[in-house]
Amino acid sequence: MAKVLYIKANPKSNEESRTFRISEHFIEEYKKTHPEDEIIELDLYKEGIHFLSNDDINTIMGPNKENLRNHPILKYTYQFVDADKYVIATPMWNLGVPAILKAYFDYVSVTGITFKYTENGPVGLLKNKKGVVIMTTGGEYLEPPFDQMDFASKYVTTMLKFFGVEEVSVVAAQRLDIIGEDVEKLVGDAKKQAEELAKTF
Ligand SMILES: Cc1cc2nc3c(=O)[nH]c(=O)nc-3n(C[C@H](O)[C@H](O)[C@H](O)COP(=O)(O)O)c2cc1C
Repeated sequence: MAKVLYIKANPKSNEESRTFRISEHFIEEYKKTHPEDEIIELDLYKEGIHFLSNDDINTIMGPNKENLRNHPILKYTYQFVDADKYVIATPMWNLGVPAILKAYFDYVSVTGITFKYTENGPVGLLKNKKGVVIMTTGGEYLEPPFDQMDFASKYVTTMLKFFGVEEVSVVAAQRLDIIGEDVEKLVGDAKKQAEELAKTF
């Protein structure tokens, strides 16, 4: 039985958010093909994830973290490590991700738990895990030079790989705010892509 951590980074409801329409569809399809798996939904806004304080930094950089599994920050780090698969649903905001998702990565990027420093630099500590980034954007970032401006899916993918998650896919619906676009079709195409991936994820 695999544990899937479904991380949601948008203050909107499932009905209002185009990103969540796609990610919820992915989860529903995933459940059909993996009925025995556990899905843990983590709505970052409902959790009240905040920016790290100086005290938080001292704790997460300090020793004896194994004794702090219930700590308000480290409980998220341990929850992250305990998962086998990650589904991260995020819109693009100002070329990056909503700040709350960055704040969440600050919670889970903890030396000795998700990565460690070696003579050759940092090394991810997670093994045999996979992830999918489900993202929507108003514009389009597929072709040069605009592809270089996508600091959203690239950032999330890079963080997962930094922790050692080797297999990371991206499902994106783009151009959703471009005047004249058929938004329902664009979202529908991404839902189909998500559905296919969910079968083998
Ligand atoms: C605060 C904010 C910033 C945004 N910044 C960008 C951006 O930099 N590039 C872009 O293509 N779309 C941008 N958008 C548009 C959203 O990415 C797009 O509408 C997306 O589909 C929203 O997802 P949602 O329906 O799940 O909320 C932004 C939207 C908001 C609310």
